[in-house]
Amino acid sequence: MNEQWLLAARPVGLPKESDFTWRRAEQEEPGAGQFRVRSIYLSLDPAMRGWMARDSYQPAVAIGAVMRGIGVGVVDASNHTDFAVGALVQGMLGWQTYCISDGKGMSKLPALPVPLDAWLGLLGHIGLTAYFGLLEIGQPKAGETLVVSAAAGAVGSVVGQIGKIKGCRVVGIAGSGEKCRWITEELGFDAAINYKAENLHQALKRECPGGIDIYFENVGGKTLETVLNHMNNFSRIPVCGMISGYNQTELEPGPGNLFQVIVHRVKMQGFIVTDFMSQARGAVAELAGWYAAGSLKYRVDVTKGLENAPAALLKLFDGTNQGKMLVQVSEEN
Ligand SMILES: NC(=O)c1ccc[n+]([C@@H]2O[C@H](COP(=O)([O-])OP(=O)(O)OC[C@H]3O[C@@H](n4cnc5c(N)ncnc54)[C@H](OP(=O)(O)O)[C@@H]3O)[C@@H](O)[C@H]2O)c1
Repeated sequence: MNEQWLLAARPVGLPKESDFTWRRAEQEEPGAGQFRVRSIYLSLDPAMRGWMARDSYQPAVAIGAVMRGIGVGVVDASNHTDFAVGALVQGMLGWQTYCISDGKGMSKLPALPVPLDAWLGLLGHIGLTAYFGLLEIGQPKAGETLVVSAAAGAVGSVVGQIGKIKGCRVVGIAGSGEKCRWITEELGFDAAINYKAENLHQALKRECPGGIDIYFENVGGKTLETVLNHMNNFSRIPVCGMISGYNQTELEPGPGNLFQVIVHRVKMQGFIVTDFMSQARGAVAELAGWYAAGSLKYRVDVTKGLENAPAALLKLFDGTNQGKMLVQVSEEN
């Protein structure tokens, strides 16, 4: 049987399990030119909240369709010349145990000595988001001060480490003492601010006495407003995400101090990782090199069992995920 989560309703506020329907469907055989993938890991991403709700940079998931999701898996039946049985692949496998594909949007994993889960984190869309957002839009220079929010999360933790590789002073904003310890003691950030335990404005004054040259934005809302008061002249803000607003039923007014962008000639630019896919191969090679050299580390937070995916998604929004949030759909071997 193919077990699946279908989207049942557009969420209002936080997603609920009743926004999904569990289905056990008959197993399909691949047709001519198709292959079947057994899903191993499913990536859970904050963007899924938007995909459930509305058309944006890609269409909303249709009601009644299998929930969209990036995954890695193994080809277990094939009538496709490029995807043989046993090949490890990555693509939009969806929230289901098996996926039939004609190869479009699916890629074979390079043979690198990395754990399989790295292809949904450091060497997948997460690492590429951090890499291109920081390097292309943030334009870091040695000696500059980089601040990153959701700093102990999947994207934020990679951003801070790349910032260190590029010679920046890196300050992370995160939501617990354990997360702050992890990014400073294990990942080498220069400082961490627990925004739930201290006043962010005062902490930024202490940790960024020379102001901020790059703010890598993952959170939005009050965090953005506070950080804007610390930006230097000609500083940059790569706008990656604004998770604090994703579950709001009414949009909050924007930061009242947005004029700081003019006063300090701040360059703010949003981006979607897919904008950079034509350059992904080189980026993956560089990320893999840094990982092999020990300059990049990551951690994963794995929930076992596809049936637990809706509950696991919520961990991204209450901050209880400790690293890249994954669902293990089946065993690696
Ligand atoms: N533009 C792109 O192409 C792209 C691609 C991937 C991800 N993103 C964005 O990158 C950001 C991070 O995603 P991720 O996958 O790496 O997730 P993540 O950081 O691993 O997990 C989400 C984290 O966000 C923080 N958070 C949740 N609700 C919050 C709130 N109301 N206020 C402040 N912080 C909150 C929590 O950390 P704390 O405990 O620190 O609060 C939580 O652990 C998201 O905004 C996501 O949408 C963008």
